[in-house]
Order: sequence, then structure tokens, then C-alpha cells
Amino acid sequence: MKIALLGFGVVGRGVYEITRERSDMQVTKVLCLEDISLPDAQAVKNIRDILEDDSIDTVVEAMGGLHPAYEFVRAAMEAGKNVVSSNKALVCTYYRELLPLAQKMGVGFRSTAAVGGGIGWLSELERARRVQTLRQVGGIMNGTCNYILDNMTRLGKDYTEALKQAQALGYAEANPTTDVEGIDTWHKIILSSNIAFGISLDFDSVPVAGISRILAEDIRRFAAHGRVCKLLGIGKRTEDGFSVYVQPALVGQDQLEANVPMNYNLITFVGDISDRMSFYGQGAGRYPTAYNVVQDLVDVAAGKGFYAPYGVGTKADNTETLSWYVRGGWDGQISEDWDGAVITGKVSVADMHAWLKTHSDAFAASVQE
Ligand SMILES: NC(=O)c1ccc[n+]([C@@H]2O[C@H](COP(=O)([O-])OP(=O)(O)OC[C@H]3O[C@@H](n4cnc5c(N)ncnc54)[C@H](OP(=O)(O)O)[C@@H]3O)[C@@H](O)[C@H]2O)c1
Repeated sequence: MKIALLGFGVVGRGVYEITRERSDMQVTKVLCLEDISLPDAQAVKNIRDILEDDSIDTVVEAMGGLHPAYEFVRAAMEAGKNVVSSNKALVCTYYRELLPLAQKMGVGFRSTAAVGGGIGWLSELERARRVQTLRQVGGIMNGTCNYILDNMTRLGKDYTEALKQAQALGYAEANPTTDVEGIDTWHKIILSSNIAFGISLDFDSVPVAGISRILAEDIRRFAAHGRVCKLLGIGKRTEDGFSVYVQPALVGQDQLEANVPMNYNLITFVGDISDRMSFYGQGAGRYPTAYNVVQDLVDVAAGKGFYAPYGVGTKADNTETLSWYVRGGWDGQISEDWDGAVITGKVSVADMHAWLKTHSDAFAASVQE
């Protein structure tokens, strides 16, 4: 297998290093903005040098962002090359374009590192869905948010302090918006739900709430009631359709999710034969992530395509009702008073997310049963 790498950053360099030790695959070209020199691969600045090179059969996209990554990946597929990408934003956003194109061109297309980094989550979903109906997918899918919430819970830090610490350790970007507002988890749960349920979700139907409004006083109330807050991405098959959303959630202190430390991920599926299966590991980092890119390369070399067939366009209905912890301005039904905050009566996911949009000082977290 002759490979071209697009991007030579954290992931790209890791893929280069791992493949150098293997005899079945070789990185021969690297698209890179900076001037680099590699002993056994040619650095190029123009994508044409890769697209027009017939000796290259597979492109690894590890640039990030939507543009020009989308145009490059599309052109690579149109040129008959397999594509492996670690870019969740790209694969989620252009699912409806790239998946049919890969199938039409008969090229391999995999993106295991895009969800769960070092956890082979999408490959596990692929295996799970071929022998059973999946009922539910999701969990802790963003290490930055888990690190911040874990620090607030275990060390009593406030949000700003915990975020600064995450940035100092390289677990959070200088601009942390994509992580803390739940967008990264949103991409991951949409992609996971599409694969698990064989659908193609409308983005607008999947609501997202992140963790940036959480205060130390919220964490103290959760602890007093035996609860821990985690940011969860959830995708569920319901009687009428699908419930898919991202939000802070309160789990019991003895639940697996509550005990996920630092920047680790814990992702779970529930199948009608296997029941609950959880996968734990590093959601990011050079070698864990590059490991799954190389796993994809091995699968593509063996002729594997995407994880699931392309499914029809679907809206999540989110009519599922839950109880919620709310601090700030709730004037609906209340089932418990938590001294400065409340636990609501049952409110649908769609209604609570709509309410949060109009109450910018409020914080809400679902109470997981
Ligand atoms: N890092 C992780 O642990 C991890 C885990 C899972 C998934 N991912 C995903 O993997 C992707 C890559 O992440 P990363 O952490 O490796 O990013 P990164 O360290 O920023 O590397 C991206 C590389 O792509 C290059 N690049 C960007 N635009 C380019 C262009 N137009 N032409 C050529 N090269 C270009 C960058 O060059 P410059 O530096 O010169 O701009 C940089 O070398 C992202 O989609 C990310 O979400 C990352």
C-alpha cells in the first residue's frame, strides 16, 4: 500500500512513524504547508502531486478543518484512491456527500480515529450492528470536558481554573469552544448514530448543550446528592424514531461513567443480543489516534469499506422526557428543591434545549436513571 499523508501534525506524524516500521505499507508523499525533509517520503505543497500520482492508492487526511480537507478528500476519491480520515468534523458534516461517493467509486473509506481517538469504537459498532439491532450508543466522548469536570469534582476547582489547567497540559485548545460547547461530542454522536442505526441524521434536529455555564456550586450540590456531572452524547432508538442529543448529565457516583478520570473516554452501545458493552481508553493523543488510523489502513488493504451502508435522511425527534437539574430561572414543574437549584418534573429533551437557548444564565443537566 502506497500512502499520501495530508497534514503532518500530531496525528499525521504519528501515522508516518508507525508505518515506517511496517513492510506492508509506506508513506511516499506528505502534503504539508511547512518545509520539511523526510528520509523516505517526498514533501509536497500541491495536492495535484498526490492526485495525479497513480502509484498512490490511499490518502490519509489528518489536516483537520472542513476546507480544503473536504475538497481534497473528494478529489482523492474521484481519483480512485482509498481515504482514511481522523477528522470527525469532516466525516460528520459531509457524510451525505462522501459516503455515497466512496460507494460509487468503489474505494475504501474509514475514520475510526475520528471518534474515541485510540478506542476502536467505530470498528466495534461495525461488528455489533452486523449481528444485532443496536438500541443505544454514546457516552463520554470528549476528553477535554471530562478533564475539566473531573478536576472540578475531585479537586474542587472552579470552571476557569480547571480549563486553564487543561490548556496548560495540552488537553484543551487556546480557543476551547468546540470542546466545551459540546460541538466535538455532537459530531461524534451524529456519526456514531448514523453508523449504529443506518441513518443519515439532519444536523438541526440534534441539540447540543456544553459545560461552559457550570459553576463550582453546581458540583457541590451534585456531590451532596450522590451525583457526578459528565458531558454525554446520546443516541437512542425510540418507539417512533430516534433521540439524539449532547448535554451535561448527572450519573450516580457508582456508575462507570462517574469514575472515568482525567481526559479518558467511555463509550457504550446497548444491543438487543449483547446488551451493554462499554469501551474505555484515550480519546486523543498522537500514538493512540495514529494507532487507529493504521488499523484502518490495514482494514482498507484487506478490502473493507465503510462501517455501515448509507442510510436515509432522518430527523431526531427528541420527545423523550427526562428529569433535569436546573439552576437559574426555572418556572415550570418542580419535583425537588436542591437548595438554590431544582429538579424539574419530566420535560422533553427538545423542550429543555429550547428553554436553555432563551435563558443564557441557566445551567441544566439531565438526571440519568
Ligand atoms: N490530536 C489528536 O489527538 C486527535 C485525536 C482524534 C482526532 N483528531 C483529528 O485529527 C485531525 C488532525 O489533528 P491534529 O491534532 O493532528 O492537528 P494538527 O496537529 O494541527 O495537524 C494538522 C496538520 O495539517 C496541516 N495542514 C492544515 N491545513 C493544511 C493544508 N491546507 N495543506 C497542507 N497541510 C495542512 C497543518 O499544518 P500547519 O501546522 O502548518 O498549519 C498541520 O501540520 C483533526 O481533524 C482532529 O480533529 C486529532
